Parts: sequence; C-alpha cells; structure tokens
Amino acid sequence: MALPVITYTAGRLKVLDQTRLPGTAEMVELGDLDSVVHAIKTLMVRGAPLIGVTAAYGVCVALLPLTESAQARERAPRVLARLGASRPTAVNLFWALERMERVVASLPERGWREALEEEAVAIHRETKAQDAALAAHGMELLTQGARVITHCNTGPLATGGQGTALGVLIEANRTLGGLHVYVDETRPRWQGAQLTTWELANHQVPHTLMVDAAAATLMRQGNIHSVWVGADRIAANGDTANKIGTYALALAARHHGVPFHVVAPTSTVDLELDDGAGIPIEERDAEEVAAPRGLALAPQGTVVWNPAFDVTPADLIDAIVTELGVFRGPRFDLRSALAG
Ligand code: MRU
Repeated sequence: MALPVITYTAGRLKVLDQTRLPGTAEMVELGDLDSVVHAIKTLMVRGAPLIGVTAAYGVCVALLPLTESAQARERAPRVLARLGASRPTAVNLFWALERMERVVASLPERGWREALEEEAVAIHRETKAQDAALAAHGMELLTQGARVITHCNTGPLATGGQGTALGVLIEANRTLGGLHVYVDETRPRWQGAQLTTWELANHQVPHTLMVDAAAATLMRQGNIHSVWVGADRIAANGDTANKIGTYALALAARHHGVPFHVVAPTSTVDLELDDGAGIPIEERDAEEVAAPRGLALAPQGTVVWNPAFDVTPADLIDAIVTELGVFRGPRFDLRSALAG
C-alpha cells in the first residue's frame, strides 16, 4: 500500500480517508478534537482496533496544545467523553480511552505531553504486534489453496497494522499460496466492495466480490474451506458483535458444515459482559440504506432500521483467534482463558 493508514508525528495526526477509497487515497490531517470525532463517526477511520488507536492519538491532539498538565487533567474528562460517544460498539475505543485516562490520572508536571504521546504510540505499536501474532496463529487453521469467505473489512485499514481476519488470509496466501477469497460487499457501507477488494488487490490475493446474499448459495455449491471475520466486541462466553450480516453468515456456515472463525486481539474482548446480550449495537442513519451516497433508492420517508452490527452466538463459532493463540468452540470461557 502506498500510503500508511494512520500517522502521528510531532503532534500531528493524519489518517487515510477511507470514505474516498478506492478511487482516492488521501491522507487528511485531524487537527483538533472535533475533526477526530467527526472522522470516527463518519467512518473516515473505522474498524475496531483502528478506532482505538485513533482515539488514543485524538487525546493527544486535544490536550497537547494546553499549556500545563493541570489544564490537561481538567480538560481530559470532556475529551474522553466526546471520543467515547463517537461510536458505541467497538470496545477497543473504550479500552484505549481507559488506558489514556490512567495516564492522565498520574500526569507528571514535567514531561506530561511525552507521557500522553508515549501511551498512544504504545497502543498503536501493541496493535501492530498483536496483528502479527493473529496472522501466525490463524494460519494454523488454513491450508494451501483454501477457498474462503470474508465479511466487512478486517485488513490493515481496520487496524493500522496488518489486519485481523484479512491479515490472516493475506499472510496465508503469501506463505501457503493459492488462496481464493470471496468478499461479501457488506451492505450498507460497502466495506467489502470498497476496502477489502482494494487491499486484496494490493497484496495480490486472488478474490471475487459477491453480494452478501450470495454467500449461502456459494457454501451450498461446496468447496468452501472456512469463513473468516473480525469482531468489534466479544463477550466472556464468546458471543461476538461484528458488522451486520455476520450472524446470517454464521448460520449459513453452520448449516453447510463450513468452519466459522473469528479473529480479534484481546483488546476486543469485553470481560465485563457475560454474554452478547449486553453489547450496545450502533444504529446509523436511515440515509445509509435508503439513499446511499445521495442516490435515492427508497421512496422518501420510508422507515428504515439500520443496525451497524449484529451478535453471533458463540455456539456458531468454531474458533476465536487471538494474539495469545486459538480458542476452539463450541464453548468459550474467555475469563479463564485470559486470566493472568
Ligand atoms: O463499521 P466499521 O467499518 O467500523 O465495522 C468494522 C467491522 O465490523 C470489522 O469487521 C471489525 O471492526 C473487526 S476487524 C478489525
């Protein structure tokens, strides 16, 4: 990829504007808190881990211009609240903000700016390292020449590293060879059509785009090795929130005996939730469905329901791949697995 997904140098945060891909690949500077919040809300940056990384740098963008640490400490709660209200489902956002909050709580008088920046950079660095481990562990579940299905976008664009589920597939194609990836277009925001195909092409991975509704038929025709998705929040029992359409894909996979794999760093696991019932699901504007990109598809005034995510019950998941290794279903106890 010619451009990085996110950069932070000398207090300046720049992100690749994902809403303009694949046609235009342009880095945009996010110079204040409003522009960081706007970028997260409008999906200029998106994908659970990248939202966390962006928010951590966003805290720096908002606080570093202040003149002393006492001011930063006083301003921080409002900054953290604004960023925390930008999108509700991906728990990585709250995980990253909690880490920044802990640094704010013990901010030194001298070197306070460096302390904030170091934590944000550490969050980004750890995210990249986790991605590398996800790819290594996920490969255990693939074979040369596998034909797989994926949903939404889970590549480098979604993390600022090498990606989650798509990172596994890109690495498997590079080392094992011969993969073929079937890409759900991923309505209503088209992350599969716009972003995943672009990333697969950039990494020379053979792929085919299809409408979301074609996945079950493809599985019935046989010869699909496995399904690979990311996650926005995973409860302690393995119930997994991910892009809307993931649950239907998992149901079809189970019906056809196709293994269904979730790939996510442990920063996506929410151990405060016993199961998926408590995961907040973002509902987005009606326009995304009724008039995408200004193209009026439905009569004006049509009532729309537009949940951005759904929850796949753990018993439909065959494996959850984390940076710590592969946890296999049908039952998951992530509290015990991640203890210590
Ligand atoms: O609404 P988005 O584009 O932020 O949704 C992204 C997804 O659902 C991804 O599949 C998910 O974040 C997991 S992979 C990084």
